[in-house]
This record gives sequence, structure tokens and C-alpha cells, in this order.
Amino acid sequence: MKLEPFKLERYFAEYEFKVKFLLSSSDCESLSMAELILMAGPDTLDLWQNLRLGYTESPGHPVLREHVAQLYDHTLPDNIIIAAPEEAIFIAMQTILSSDDHIITVSPAYQSLHEVARSIGCSITQWNLEPGAKGWHLDLNLLERAITDHTKMIIINFPHNPTGHTLSHSDFNAVVELAAKRGIYIFSDEMYRLLEIDPTIRLPSVCDVYEKGISLSGLSKSFALPGLRIGWLALREKELINRCLEFKDYTTICNSAPSEILAIIALQNKDQILQRNLDIIQGNIVLAKQFFSDNSNLFSWFGPKAGSVSFPEWLGEIPVEQFCKKVLEHRGVMIVPGNLFGFSGNHFRIGLGRKNFGEAIAILNGYIKDSGLHGA
Ligand SMILES: Cc1ncc(COP(=O)(O)O)c(C=O)c1O
Repeated sequence: MKLEPFKLERYFAEYEFKVKFLLSSSDCESLSMAELILMAGPDTLDLWQNLRLGYTESPGHPVLREHVAQLYDHTLPDNIIIAAPEEAIFIAMQTILSSDDHIITVSPAYQSLHEVARSIGCSITQWNLEPGAKGWHLDLNLLERAITDHTKMIIINFPHNPTGHTLSHSDFNAVVELAAKRGIYIFSDEMYRLLEIDPTIRLPSVCDVYEKGISLSGLSKSFALPGLRIGWLALREKELINRCLEFKDYTTICNSAPSEILAIIALQNKDQILQRNLDIIQGNIVLAKQFFSDNSNLFSWFGPKAGSVSFPEWLGEIPVEQFCKKVLEHRGVMIVPGNLFGFSGNHFRIGLGRKNFGEAIAILNGYIKDSGLHGA
């Protein structure tokens, strides 16, 4: 089966580089080359200046894999495969799944987390996030009931894109227990991990706590470096690691040599970069809170528990897709409607990681006042 077009990525492809303001980006304000190089210590600067632009080691630069492994408690450099995050999803799904497998995926979700499985021919059950009175909610009973004898993988993504939800520690443990009882893989997209304002809610990485746990992470979101195209899989099964590497020979073979060195610099300065991004997000949450409370006739919003995005509901009388289109056409502000995540409600994503969030939200506010949009 063929892959369907990636709705969200096609929408970004159409507008991202044309509009004035991006109010729905999931990545944090990207670092400049100058900012990053300034953080480099003498050894890494030496690596950078003397780098030869040959092919690199397929699993990733050994120093980079060492730094990545340090992000985990029980995961070694040999358990890390460096790849672009989107590539890593493709490699893992293609390597593990076959057409007679069943998967369960948290929903809504970043499309490739289930689309690659669909294209392989897997049957899919969605584990749906529901908006409740106090925030987003996932029912563990539904997950348990969805498991069949053919279930090969449970796909989760916390902190979650697009809702900003995360599981409680006890619910996370319950998911791992359910999977472990039946030997089901957990593919855990942890691209927004380390962006927890309250670090006590940070979940363990699944690769650290479960033999069949596969963690996906990378530098695109929490580390504000999407242009490096550096991410990784962290996983334990030796045989699976080898099969993933065999598959990677058909995607990129190896990673971009300059990006690997820049990634090492970023991980050597991770605390500073993460704090910068958390500060931006926290400041923007204050602005968002004010905006949504000033316009509570038009929006319902729960702030994110973690990560750089959240998923407010539009309560206006026109459908959310039309609202987004109007704001784009009249004010050059791009907002992503929830149907691009396969979500049927009237929700849209906002990104809280950009420095011009305040300006963009003020323009949106002005548009709402001028256009006389009102609640349903
Ligand atoms: C949840 C999630 N996983 C994976 C990715 C892929 O990351 P990248 O675009 O850096 O390949 C994204 C990007 O938006 C994402 O939001």
C-alpha cells in the first residue's frame, strides 16, 4: 500500500515560508549557527574545524552516541541509532511491522506514527485522547480492551503533540505493564521530552524501563535545532538494532557529518539550551492564558502539561478550518486546524516555543475584535 500524503507537512509546505507569523509551530525558536558555535568547548571546536566531509559511521558518531546515551539511565551508546527523527520512525516501523500485525496508537497523533504502519497493511486501533472538564484524558480500560493476539506495537507520544498532555506516572507504568504481559513493543515518541515545566511529571524513557521499549527522540523540538535533522532511536534488543541498521542502508546510510558535530555541541550544553526554551514557553503560556481568558466566548483552552504545543477548542460559529483560513488570509498568521491530525473536534494547535508568539497572538486578538467573530 502507498503512503497517503502527510496532511500537516503538506500544509506547512504550502504556507510556512510565505506567511508572516507561525502560531502553530511545534519547535522552539531555533538557535542560530553563531549561538551554537559560541557554546562549543575547545575539543569540540577542534572536531568542527578539522571535520572531513566524508561518509560517517552508520549508527552515528561515537561521541554523539555517548552524549545521547547520557540522557538515559540504563541505555548505552550501542543502543542508540542516530537518524533524522522522521527517518527513525520509518526505519522502526518498517523493521518491526508486517501486514498481519495490529497496532494501537494514541490519537490524535503526528501522522507518520500510524501512517507508515497503515501503508504496511497493519490493522490499527486508535487510543483516543478526549477533552474533559479539567484537561485531556486517556482511558486505560480502552487501551486494555484494544489489545488482541495480533497486537505487535503500542505507539505513544508524551509529552503529546498536539495536546500538550502527558500521562501520570502510574498510567505510564500501567501501559508498560499491559505491554510487558503480552510481549508487545512500545514505540514511545519522546520528541518533546525534557520540556516539562514541572520536572516531577517527567516520565521515564521507555527504553530505560522496558526490554521491548523503543524511544524516539531528537534535537528538533526540545533542543530548538530542527535544521540539523538529528534524532535517534534508543532500543535494547540487539537483533532489532542490527535490523534497523540494515534498513538504514536504504534510507540515508549515515548522517550529515556537520550536523553530528553541531549535535554534540548542543548536547554538551543541554541544560542551557533547555532552560532557554522552557523560559520562552513559560512566558508564552502567560500570554496565552490572558488571550484565552479575554476571549473565553470563542475559545476553551487547557494549558499544556508539558512540551511546546497545546490544542485549544474554537467555539465560534464557523468551522475551525474556516477560522484558520480567515486568519491566514486576512492577517498572515498561520494556525493549524485539528483535522490535520485526524481529529474531528473544532480544535487547533498553537505553538508556545517561538519568541514572536506575543506579537502573533496580539495580531490574532486584533483580528477577532475587528472581524466581529462570535461564539456559536
Ligand atoms: C511527535 C513528533 N514526532 C516526530 C516528529 C518528526 O520530527 P522531525 O520533523 O524533526 O523529523 C515530529 C515533528 O513535528 C513530531 O511532532
